[in-house]
Amino acid sequence: MLVVATFAVLQGCLTQAIALPPPTGKYHIGVSKHTIEHYNPRDVLAPNNVSTAFLATIYYPTLQKPAGPPRPYLEPELAAIMETQWNYTSGFLSKFTSNIQRDAPFVKGRVGESEFPTLLFGPGGGGPPVPGNTILISELVSHGYTVVGLDHPFEQLFIRYPNGTGVIGVDIDYGSSQLLEAIYNTRLIDNVVFLDYFPKLTHKLGAPFNTSHFGLFGYSLGGAAALGSVYHDRRVLSGLNLDGTMFGLPALNNTWADAKKPVFLLGNEYHTGEDAIHDVTWETFPSWQTEYFRLFTINGSTHHDFCDDTFWKTIEPTDPSTGPIDGNRQFRIMNAYVKAFFDFTLMGWNSSLLDGPSAEWPEVVFHDKSL
Ligand SMILES: *[C@@H]1O[C@H](CO)[C@@H](O)[C@H](O)[C@H]1NC(C)=O
Ligand SMILES: *[C@@H]1O[C@H](CO)[C@@H](O)[C@H](O)[C@H]1NC(C)=O
Ligand SMILES: *[C@@H]1O[C@H](CO)[C@@H](O)[C@H](O)[C@H]1NC(C)=O
Ligand SMILES: *[C@@H]1O[C@H](CO)[C@@H](O)[C@H](O)[C@H]1NC(C)=O
Ligand SMILES: *[C@@H]1O[C@H](CO)[C@@H](O)[C@H](O)[C@H]1NC(C)=O
Ligand SMILES: *[C@@H]1O[C@H](CO)[C@@H](O)[C@H](O)[C@H]1NC(C)=O
Ligand SMILES: *[C@@H]1O[C@H](CO)[C@@H](O)[C@H](O)[C@H]1NC(C)=O
Repeated sequence: MLVVATFAVLQGCLTQAIALPPPTGKYHIGVSKHTIEHYNPRDVLAPNNVSTAFLATIYYPTLQKPAGPPRPYLEPELAAIMETQWNYTSGFLSKFTSNIQRDAPFVKGRVGESEFPTLLFGPGGGGPPVPGNTILISELVSHGYTVVGLDHPFEQLFIRYPNGTGVIGVDIDYGSSQLLEAIYNTRLIDNVVFLDYFPKLTHKLGAPFNTSHFGLFGYSLGGAAALGSVYHDRRVLSGLNLDGTMFGLPALNNTWADAKKPVFLLGNEYHTGEDAIHDVTWETFPSWQTEYFRLFTINGSTHHDFCDDTFWKTIEPTDPSTGPIDGNRQFRIMNAYVKAFFDFTLMGWNSSLLDGPSAEWPEVVFHDKSL
């Protein structure tokens, strides 16, 4: 018996949970998942090019305190796939836990209304899906925003619909810009389909979500699509791109690239726009903006640092696509700058953080292309 008990204790230590860093705002985090029915007969990644749905995950403020122990926050299938693809030890990503509460009660408020505009989030192309960006999303929600993340089946590494069905992603040739552009266009369609449906969904849920005003942001391809959806949609007030190469209108080198709305680029050390070898779209896009525009880069960061991976790497620093920056600084920088941008463009709250170099975050480089 004693031997068994000791073994169990050892096992307990080995599989010790690692809590995600807690958000800083006053709200706890609720989450609900929704299947968005949409028939798309030109889906490049779906079997026979037909998809019939995508997944919306709504993160929202709640006053309910979490009860019970924190739980693993990634689907086990997703964790296993990412451990292989992102060079982590088997079982590593299943150790990470959060206090996010499934279907927690909403805060009090009128159905379909909130002083905080709703934020729409797009994940990176091929991953990680929305839950792999929980640190930044939770931070925004803890301060009052509702954030809706959209995952597209077959494109993301793994998603699970609310009915329990899991969908594994297909192999994507990231060398094909034609394919990436097609995936990007699917994202733009999903964004519009979701914005059209959101008021109805909100009323069905009886939720105090803002159904008229939106800010869009995303990581990598999701950041590109966030900017792409800013053009010509009156509901969308501003857009933010985390380290994503642009496609479509934002990638043009002419006046069509002018978003005519507040837009923000936050990129890795080499995404300066002064080094066209790395990404010409970050060079051309800024010069066409006629509304509020900011470009910041973070020294020491590389592409994978712009999602929860930057925190995972602080425990096991083996993903070659992360940079030398301390992941605990990187996620705080992202939290601070993304929140400051939406606070300013959606709520009208000014922040000196957006107006130049920062003494608090000296590794954040301000590129003065701003209007
Ligand atoms: C899906 O669409 C792509 C691009 O149009 C095409 O190359 C591919 O053959 C199609 N796949 C199927 C199964 O129809
Ligand atoms: C959404 O938020 C904006 C900005 O606070 C506000 O002006 C608008 O009335 C809100 N809309 C709804 C439906 O709550
Ligand atoms: C669950 O929902 C998805 C998306 O609508 C659908 O493709 C799948 O067939 C459903 N699974 C079951 C078991 O009904
Ligand atoms: C973008 O267009 C301008 C002219 O409007 C030109 O000077 C510049 O070289 C172009 N940049 C690229 C990367 O093609
Ligand atoms: C993957 O991780 C191992 C340690 O687990 C490390 O030795 C190796 O260098 C990593 N691979 C790459 C390509 O960085
Ligand atoms: C924010 O406020 C500061 C000081 O109050 C001011 O210098 C700056 O121009 C303002 N920034 C914006 C974008 O309004
Ligand atoms: C950021 O890195 C660049 C290139 O390595 C360097 O020139 C610059 O001084 C660094 N900036 C800061 C604020 O550390």
